[in-house]
Amino acid sequence: MRRTYDIVIVGSGAAGLMAALKLAPHLRVAVLSKGRISAGSTNWAQGGIAAVLEESDSIQSHIDDTLVAGDGLCNEEAVRFMVERSRTAIEELIDLGVDFDKNDTPEDGYGYHLAREGGHSHRRIIHAADATGRAVQSTLNARAKAEPNIDIYLGHVAIDIITNRHLKNAASYTDQAHGVYVLNTEDGRVETFSARATILATGGASRVYLYSSNPDASTGDGIALAWRAGCRVTNMEFNQFHPTCLFHPTAKTFLITEAMRGEGAYLLSSDGERFMKQYDKRLELAPRDIVARAIDNEMKRRGDECVYLDITHRDADFIISHFPNIYRYCQQMGIDITSDRIPVVPAAHYTCGGIDVGLEAATDLNQLYAIGECAHTGLHGANRMASNSLLECLVMASSAADDILKRIDKMPPAALPRNWDESKVTDSDEEVVVTHNWKELRRFMWDYVGIVRTDKRLERAKRRVDLLMGEILEYYGNFRVTADLLELRNLVTVADLIVRSALKRKESRGLHFTSDYPDQLDETVNTVLVPFSRAVKDRVE
Ligand code: FAD
Ligand code: SIN
Repeated sequence: MRRTYDIVIVGSGAAGLMAALKLAPHLRVAVLSKGRISAGSTNWAQGGIAAVLEESDSIQSHIDDTLVAGDGLCNEEAVRFMVERSRTAIEELIDLGVDFDKNDTPEDGYGYHLAREGGHSHRRIIHAADATGRAVQSTLNARAKAEPNIDIYLGHVAIDIITNRHLKNAASYTDQAHGVYVLNTEDGRVETFSARATILATGGASRVYLYSSNPDASTGDGIALAWRAGCRVTNMEFNQFHPTCLFHPTAKTFLITEAMRGEGAYLLSSDGERFMKQYDKRLELAPRDIVARAIDNEMKRRGDECVYLDITHRDADFIISHFPNIYRYCQQMGIDITSDRIPVVPAAHYTCGGIDVGLEAATDLNQLYAIGECAHTGLHGANRMASNSLLECLVMASSAADDILKRIDKMPPAALPRNWDESKVTDSDEEVVVTHNWKELRRFMWDYVGIVRTDKRLERAKRRVDLLMGEILEYYGNFRVTADLLELRNLVTVADLIVRSALKRKESRGLHFTSDYPDQLDETVNTVLVPFSRAVKDRVE
């Protein structure tokens, strides 16, 4: 089946839906999600969105904090671009109907309650209790569903970008994207979505690790799709581990927001020591890379399975009103956060690297855009500061939409790609290969490419990635595609990009810490990986 739109957007999180809403007054838009509409990380965001909203705060202060957290590797122009647009982004969400928490006395400051998180020198996190993502996602869902120019396709997994090599008449086009091939998980058939421009908004890749705060959807699909289509990826070694995820034998990984440390929670070791004193003068509010490494070190040093977060010194009513979801969830797990310490461990949380884009969100391939967590704009550098991610999703969604609207008249109409070819594949008779390789990959990424790295561990991981890559690609070539197989193919690609990037960086900076090179080099450089096809083309040109 072939469907034709002006724009196809892969991803229905904050980035994808915001872009769709901006484009819909002018163009016909398809939005794809491989699961439910709220399958991505956006729905799980807790702390909030960083923005300069009060007189006592300043754009320069937000920029400076972001640059410090990014440890020398942020693109200052990108940081300024996001921060200068932060207030407008928040006001757009308020106009759409997001119900952020107000101040007890609304005439104070901006009128909304602003929280504080690690690395921020001001209270500047606007939030909806401890479930900001749910408030944002549900508002955007309702708006997008009501928009006649937006069609939403759930259970549709993008397989690959349609490029010139998929066309019947490639000679009439410049090197560009023409849409995506998509698996409809309901009937198992592959559909063709043709479009004049394609936007990747597929979120991050943290599910490449065994323990992650992310939902199942975060398998790095957009990064792998763009890479296969010939786009560069940047800084994939910077995987952020959130310091405080609930440690519980029966709970699925559940985040305990950094905003709790912003409201004074202490980190304690098993014997009650407030150990952050030994690591950083900012204590529990040091940037995430520092806190996660400190926890990892304490756990390894003491042989403990977790550390503890303690907010019991705050008033119970305050705790319950500020963190109602965490309170309820922990209570179900037998932990009363008003009187008990919360057992916590770090878990993979955010992909700082991604598809290389400029500030108009354009990738290396014409008519292909990337926004949100799958993209690398240079905002986060070597370590993302808390609550800067949703901000980037919103600002870059607007930026992509502006650029598309400016250029759409010059973009050729959607091309006619060849149909998906299933003539050489059969149904799999060995699904166990997929489940086994999935588990193996995530396990060794956790063990060898985690919070503290060494060359020896990375090389071990590389040998395993190479082996799995071969097996998975052979399997992909022989059998009909399934959602699990597509995700595994993308995960192994992303694992390869992470390990190769980590091996290239011969220093410790931000989230990338290696015991072999504990110091920073004087020169700060991005790790840019260039796909083989593009490297050859660049050499020829
Ligand atoms: P997502 O919201 O992850 O959406 C991805 C979309 O892409 C989904 O619709 C998915 O179905 C779709 N998709 C993926 N692959 C395919 C495919 N192959 N085909 C079709 N569809 C596909 N950031 C903050 O700024 N503040 C916070 O307080 C905060 N808290 C967080 C708490 C948690 C628990 C987590 C996990 C993250 C948090 N973050 C926070 C990070 C932030 O939520 C994410 O970076 C952001 O929501 C990413 O949005 P996105 O639109 O890029 O992607
Ligand atoms: C949190 O609430 O701690 C997560 C914030 C973020 O990841 O930006």
